[in-house]
Amino acid sequence: MQNFVFHNPVKIIFGQGTIASLAELVPARARVMLLYGSGSIKGNGVYDQVMAALRHHRVEEFGGIEPNPSYETCMRAVAQARSFGIDFLLAAGGGSVMDATKFIAAAIPHTQGDPWDMVLKKVPVSAALPLGCVVTVPATGSEMNLNAVISRTETQEKIPLKSEHLYPRFSILDPDTTFSLPYRQLANGVVDTFAHVCEQYLTYPANAPLQDRQAEAILLTLLEEAPKLHSEGDGYAVRANLMWCATQALNHSLSCGVPGDWSSHAIGHDLTARFGLEHARSLAIVLPAVLSHQRHRKAEKLLQFARRVWGVTETTTDQTIDAALARTRNFFETLGLPTRLRDYQISPADCRIIEQRLGAREPLLGEHQDLGAADVAAILALAE
Ligand code: NZQ
Ligand code: ZN
Repeated sequence: MQNFVFHNPVKIIFGQGTIASLAELVPARARVMLLYGSGSIKGNGVYDQVMAALRHHRVEEFGGIEPNPSYETCMRAVAQARSFGIDFLLAAGGGSVMDATKFIAAAIPHTQGDPWDMVLKKVPVSAALPLGCVVTVPATGSEMNLNAVISRTETQEKIPLKSEHLYPRFSILDPDTTFSLPYRQLANGVVDTFAHVCEQYLTYPANAPLQDRQAEAILLTLLEEAPKLHSEGDGYAVRANLMWCATQALNHSLSCGVPGDWSSHAIGHDLTARFGLEHARSLAIVLPAVLSHQRHRKAEKLLQFARRVWGVTETTTDQTIDAALARTRNFFETLGLPTRLRDYQISPADCRIIEQRLGAREPLLGEHQDLGAADVAAILALAE
């Protein structure tokens, strides 16, 4: 196992009726800005619950954060927050609202230079306003991690930002908030969670059997729970399980002491920025292609994945990996997520700019940090 430091300071409040606890979680004297998306929280009662809990607080609002939140929208929130003297941010929404809120939290005190430098040039985040989250989509894990992914509309870029300053102070996970989600968003969340696990699990063995089994536990739970979204049974239990899987998949515990390969996310982000694909839909295309392209270097872990997650043991290594990847694709497709570029009328030739951009980045992609433009081209060809 590799050396690691693990420190996750996010307080999680999980369960029905927990939005009311905002009354105690948000500091009494705070000047709060509530941030949200295009309005789903007004239709499903989340907004009313938040406002009722904060009725004794001073609260301003900023709505209209779009999926794949843009720098441009975030900077409008920054200007508004500065003018109101805001000192606490509360995100109510999915990954997009939470990520935007994290960037805004860092951008408000970043008065020397352009806050975009923290994203593009990796200028370190030196401070951020405290923030809390009310999660309404089980998917990204943003509620319990230090990441944010921000897009720049004018340059068609979508780039992650990381900082210890961006951990939420708390996150409220009430599975009831997810009943208003269209099936499409729930399915997207399952695939995003699946991909997050795979990118920390499917690399090379690091003699970390606990982390392997934690990863497999999440994958197996997703396989068991996701099909129940269609059935009449206990919808709350299914949503609660998917929600906790999503949070656990990307709260940095699976990555303790093991290598990671985030190339599917890197390529997927560029597909989103270039063609507008939803985040999870980009991953459903790219992840199977990355795993197939890297099958020799990932063989040991792919065979373990095949055996323990899919129960597959064919005669040869290639046959076993092919069977596991076919089942993975089938799982995504059964959830309604296509797994081929052609399903979106995109050809690998349309992706040249993505290959060039990722081939020029430092460090290169993959757990060995050596996948360049030619590899990205080969991966996209496999995803055709
Ligand atoms: O705009 P609103 O009204 O909120 O509507 C949203 C949006 O249209 C809607 N929605 C959210 N909660 C709802 C709801 N509709 C009905 N009922 C509810 N309870 O769902 C749509 C999608 O929301 P979004 O927040 O974009 O989805 P998701 O949670 O999948 O977030 C995706 C974003 O997170 C980033 C992605 O790149 C993408 O930008 N990620 C962030 C990560 C992180 N911070 O660690 C990691 C992930 O890999 C990912 O990259
Ligand atoms: Zn993701």
